[in-house]
Amino acid sequence: MVISPLSAADLLAQHRERLHGSLLVADENTIELCGSAAVPRVVLPPGESAKQWSSVSRIIETALESGIGRDGRIIGVGGGVICDIAAFAASIYLRGVAITLVPTTLLAMVDAAFGGKTGINFGGYKNMVGTFYPAADLLVAPSAVASLPEREYHSGLAEAIKSAMLGDTELFSLFEREPEAVLQRESATVRAMVERSLAIKASVVERDFTERGIRAWLNLGHTFAHALESVAGLGLWSHGEAVAWGMACALDLGVDLGITDRAYAARATALLERYGFRLRADGVGVDDLLQAMQYDKKVQSGAVRFVLQRDLGLTEVVTAPPDAVQAVLAKHT
Ligand code: GLY
Repeated sequence: MVISPLSAADLLAQHRERLHGSLLVADENTIELCGSAAVPRVVLPPGESAKQWSSVSRIIETALESGIGRDGRIIGVGGGVICDIAAFAASIYLRGVAITLVPTTLLAMVDAAFGGKTGINFGGYKNMVGTFYPAADLLVAPSAVASLPEREYHSGLAEAIKSAMLGDTELFSLFEREPEAVLQRESATVRAMVERSLAIKASVVERDFTERGIRAWLNLGHTFAHALESVAGLGLWSHGEAVAWGMACALDLGVDLGITDRAYAARATALLERYGFRLRADGVGVDDLLQAMQYDKKVQSGAVRFVLQRDLGLTEVVTAPPDAVQAVLAKHT
């Protein structure tokens, strides 16, 4: 992994030897970072709607037409959507070719590009089809965060706050102490968010790559979030916005079940509010959310399981009584 002060375009240019025998995958916003080298490329529309089988099919068709062999590589340049699609295509093309990821959003830098989860949405549900396939390399340019649209940056902040909640008291305090530096995207602060979030994620993924156990912790708030994204329509709530809402729900559920320390829940909820996250999904139906949760990938023997916290850094996966979940959803809709 390289974390560099260079721009994403310069970082990619510095590693141009990887372009030989490669296929570039980007979206309409990130393709300009890829330079003008005569390298085959697939340019997808931006946004969640691209995260579907037809995008994977286009990548595979272009790879075949371009003669990308087993010793070739796919290079994904973009946010979480591009990283997930490109890595999924790389994992199945010729039973697997190398994937290099160049994440260009905060969300992709702190979470999506690292850890080997790939995938697409299916049947209206998030990441229903995918593989575990780690990137051969990751080129991270935190400076790309400076030019992100406000909503995109905000979405990444939710995952960075999640990382802090999972076990970095110093990062959590930084979020509490320095909201101006965070919101103004001060470069040392952004770099700290990226490096510290990746360190937390690495410490979990190293111990449980294929999510048989503790990797589920990284899904704090996600059982609620994925249900919201599915019910509200994929893309209407950004992933990070839904995760922030989901973490507030998980904190409340934990308090109601006597698991989460009340003072910690109040502190973490106040932090989410400080960063302007919506903690109520007005107009979204509780029954629809409960129904969507049945498709969560953590369901075991028909029971939906939730990632809850006792305190900062003390995380566990529990099965919650449906009426407790219903009560929390009613409070947050
Ligand atoms: N985004 C959660 C994980 O990588 O496991």
